[in-house]
Amino acid sequence: MTTRRKDDAPSALLLTNIRQLVTLRGESVPRRGPELGQLGIIEDAAVLCSGGKIVAVGSKDEATSDDWLKAHKRDVAELDCSGAVVVPGFVDSHTHPVFTAPRLNDFEQRIAGSDYETVAEKGGGIRGSVSGVREATAEELAAHVSRAFAQMSAQGTTTIEAKSGYGLTVKDELKSLEAIDIAEKEFPGTVRSTLLGAHVLPKDYLDDREGYIRLVCEKMIPQAAERDLAHFVDVFIERGAFTVEEAEHIFTAAWEHGLGVRAHFCQLGKNELGDLLKFGPASLDHLDFIRNDDVPTLAASNTIATLLPGAVYFLGRSQYPPARKLIDAGVAVALATDFNPGSSPTASMPMVLSLACTQMRMSPAEAIAAATINAACALRLQERKGSVEPGKDADLAIFDVDDYREIPYWFGGNRCAGVVIGGELYQPNLRAAG
Ligand code: NIG
Ligand code: FE
Repeated sequence: MTTRRKDDAPSALLLTNIRQLVTLRGESVPRRGPELGQLGIIEDAAVLCSGGKIVAVGSKDEATSDDWLKAHKRDVAELDCSGAVVVPGFVDSHTHPVFTAPRLNDFEQRIAGSDYETVAEKGGGIRGSVSGVREATAEELAAHVSRAFAQMSAQGTTTIEAKSGYGLTVKDELKSLEAIDIAEKEFPGTVRSTLLGAHVLPKDYLDDREGYIRLVCEKMIPQAAERDLAHFVDVFIERGAFTVEEAEHIFTAAWEHGLGVRAHFCQLGKNELGDLLKFGPASLDHLDFIRNDDVPTLAASNTIATLLPGAVYFLGRSQYPPARKLIDAGVAVALATDFNPGSSPTASMPMVLSLACTQMRMSPAEAIAAATINAACALRLQERKGSVEPGKDADLAIFDVDDYREIPYWFGGNRCAGVVIGGELYQPNLRAAG
């Protein structure tokens, strides 16, 4: 892949020599049922980007017949993709990047036979990441977040949702959101931040659930909203964390302060949906143990089901989310990494796609749509992200493969040759010209 500049200060980028361009173009958003597998592939394609947006898409002749391009030929840099596959930049719609250290003791205890909840009860788990976050400054945390963002984008991700959740005091949750804000300013991609103050009860509130929920509702949410530090509020709904009823209180406060809502749901055990959908969550995430009775209700809603197979893999569990059942019932399914130090320390969307294919029987095409257009819906960014169509943000991922199905096929390596973010090549590519 080579970049040929025709001018010192080009104002547009033309990607040429794309063997397969996966556009995901089309009216049907989010994708449900059989439409999830329709990628809108153009062979031997080109994409013209200008002003941070996609301007034209098609064969090289079509993309270069654009009137603006003809008038400004000298101002265009050409990126020869050398026969690569280009997809919309991945949207990683569920990550927890604000922590300071891996949890290696948890890892070893599970290998020796403990499960996630037992490790948490013994002082590991989410609470095991809290002291590191409390002791760090916002700038120190931001350095960790930036590193995670860089690893994600090196593997094709251009839009990231990032949660707080390891501070568990007003000051430390807000500091975590500030860290995301600092890292966002250094990252050319798009970031959506989420307040996850209700991740787990902190140690000093173990006997005062109500007091902590009041703190989340009356202090964390209003202050995060006031300072414009969060787009969404998340709740970990699970035994050992928070109940559906408690989540409803928290969602009510979020709505009152103009923030969207989302939740972790049915990751470790069954739970009833109750009235959760009435709050219009942008997504419900994990769903490994979703009840059959709740599937049609979810299918009839605009809530995205974000599946996180990396967490099932890394915790050594066997029950993956029932992707086939959900897709076949018409639920809008997305995929994300769940990047975090406890259950899913991977920044790789291609690895998640691979798990979705081999463990959840999603086709490669379904997995790519779930990681792009449907994931954009999970962040309510479908107007700007998730497909390669004129008018959308020029965010693309370039893969050093001949066929899109190779993206989940070559697991454990990195075939991403570079990303384009806002119409500019961001990652130095790994592939030689020609
Ligand atoms: O999504 N389930 C809650 N949060 C994370 C785990 C976080 C952690 O263990 O640090 C998850 O899997
Ligand atoms: Fe999570």
